[in-house]
Amino acid sequence: MDYSLIVWPIKVKSASAYLYDKIVTMNILAIESSCDETAAAVISSAGKRRQTILSNVIASQVEIHARYGGVVPEVAARSHVEVIIPVIEQALSDAHLDWDGIDAIAVTRGPGLIGSLLIGVLTAQTLAITKKKPLIGVNHIWAHAFASFLTDTPPQFPFLALTVSGGHTTLSVYHEDLSREVLGQTLDDAAGEAFDKVAKLIGLGYPGGPAISKAAESGDDTRYQFPIANTPGKYDFSFSGLKTAVLRQVQQITGINPGSEKAQKTYLLDKQVQADLAASFQKAVIDALVQKTLQAYNDLQPKAFVVGGGVACNTLLRERLKQVIPDTIVVPPVLCTDNAAMIGSIANHMAERKMFTKPEDIVADPSLEIL
Ligand code: KG4
Ligand code: ZN
Repeated sequence: MDYSLIVWPIKVKSASAYLYDKIVTMNILAIESSCDETAAAVISSAGKRRQTILSNVIASQVEIHARYGGVVPEVAARSHVEVIIPVIEQALSDAHLDWDGIDAIAVTRGPGLIGSLLIGVLTAQTLAITKKKPLIGVNHIWAHAFASFLTDTPPQFPFLALTVSGGHTTLSVYHEDLSREVLGQTLDDAAGEAFDKVAKLIGLGYPGGPAISKAAESGDDTRYQFPIANTPGKYDFSFSGLKTAVLRQVQQITGINPGSEKAQKTYLLDKQVQADLAASFQKAVIDALVQKTLQAYNDLQPKAFVVGGGVACNTLLRERLKQVIPDTIVVPPVLCTDNAAMIGSIANHMAERKMFTKPEDIVADPSLEIL
């Protein structure tokens, strides 16, 4: 296929629509398999930046990994192999489309777990060759921010994005030409990772974020004082000191100290203590996220601000951000945790700019940072 010949929009919806409304459509089949969700979606765009979710299928492995207290990479990869084809077929069927109705295929190429990424990338590569479709390789972190284009109030460029997930915590500005400036990021643990580790420590299980926010509802967030880290970078974050502070507090409460701070231990705690710890920890994480984000927003005065990624499901974080930045675009929870609709959304912008990759050139990159 000659990729230089691909023009956007690829397909005209109908002659009359084209003539009278200049409405054109492009349907992208998107695939996501970077961690423990196998997902496929079809995103349709009608004209610039108007995007519709035609289907959004997610096969979650959460129950499989919960018994191990976290994601087991080999188990995740095997599970992706088992379900990826049925998930894609379901996405096409839910969208009432066959392959003729698909204009391009998009896939997450990083960052993530290498075994998991490879399943999605190899599947997309094979489909692109056999079905003769252009292929788009997507950065998962960018996609979390571009999920905001699937809301009723898509952002204008340049926009500020707080991306808070299990693996990343980043404050970035995205520009019209699809370039990104990273203003700040976590120097150690990601926000979601801190939620998961503290949940395990205080006996709330996996995944930690939803468990902590639920327990915190009946907790007193002033009972324990946890620190907000000072970071050398104005917009950077650090959560490992906070995690250690929770551990010290728990050891003080229980009188149990196995000697190593790194001990992966779950402590048996009284329900109210557990709830108060959850609330106090959650407050400290949210204070740090809101403080740095507001500073960046005031300094940069972007056209819009969006928050996305799994931790953005947190109700208190959403409310606190809306209080300080009333125009905050909050991505709906189903599009915050890993999904393929967000992959289709950024792929739509990439297709518009002809950012296609030859199937033989696409590479899964577990530590991908830039497009
Ligand atoms: O974006 P995501 O689904 O996967 C990654 O790309 O990492 O994010 C998963 C993370 C997990 O760490 C999970 O504990 C966290 O998002 N999370 C939450 C909440 N729901 C999910 N964290 C805080 N509060 C929540 N309600
Ligand atoms: Zn993610």
